[in-house]
Amino acid sequence: MEPIRKLSRSIRGKVALITGAASGMGRATAHVFAGEGAKVAVLDLRQERVDAVVAEIKAEGGEAHGWALDVADAEGIIRVVKEIEARFGGLDILVNNAGLSTFCGIAEEGYEESWARALDVMLTAHMRFARAALPSLKKSGEGRIVNVASTEGFGATPGNSTYVAAKHGVIGLTRALAVELGREGVTCNCICPGPIRTGITADIPDEHKEIFAKRRVPLRRYGEPEEVAHVTLSVVLPASSYLNGVAIPVDGGMLVKNA
Ligand code: NAI
Repeated sequence: MEPIRKLSRSIRGKVALITGAASGMGRATAHVFAGEGAKVAVLDLRQERVDAVVAEIKAEGGEAHGWALDVADAEGIIRVVKEIEARFGGLDILVNNAGLSTFCGIAEEGYEESWARALDVMLTAHMRFARAALPSLKKSGEGRIVNVASTEGFGATPGNSTYVAAKHGVIGLTRALAVELGREGVTCNCICPGPIRTGITADIPDEHKEIFAKRRVPLRRYGEPEEVAHVTLSVVLPASSYLNGVAIPVDGGMLVKNA
């Protein structure tokens, strides 16, 4: 009989770029990947926050290097991806995670700015990183793109249309890249977190978080960044080679709860 357990569950030695890795789910993903032996490119807006995460990872014996970049900077993306490839000798895993809250009612002042920022940072950047990384991802043989969308990629919260449009777009982009890049040996999938305790949700008072979670989430609590990072890890494993084009909710069951 052919052996069943021939696929690898290790990302040791793989090069992974994680955007928005100075906080929340990006930081947790950087830690989890580095803990598994991956070489991690930590990318975020400000150098000192990037350096702090790189130092944390190194203190735990992991391998990481940091890049400060606004992901809305198209030329910067091309430059940084080249630098990462040069430093680590390739790029196998891209996690498009950087994001921000862009809450703004459709009739409110500043809507156009909110729209532009939401799409630049949370959709156009995903496309640009995928394009810049594509030659390396193809060369990898086990190239993985993971885009972070949201449960707002399936439904909508009033007053959040710029974010909702970007996140719906991320799911569409994920599906489109999955069907286009499958033949190149690169998979593209999407993680859709529900309410998670991170920088984005830090301003929501604890009692509001609790009321919301008890009403909406079967697990009756917010999720922790690490709980999402482990799902992302499972998606990028070499053994997850037949997973392509899916949008995976990581929401404590929120999306399937009716009453
Ligand atoms: P976070 O605020 O803790 O982390 C986001 C990181 O992205 C920050 O470090 C921030 O500096 C970085 N970032 C923002 N704009 C950037 C830019 N222009 N260039 C480079 N880096 C930038 O928040 P969280 O929650 O960890 O966010 C990660 C992703 O998860 C985002 O895409 C967010 O939309 C998504 N998400 C979060 C949910 C939550 O409940 N926390 C729910 C669903 C999705």
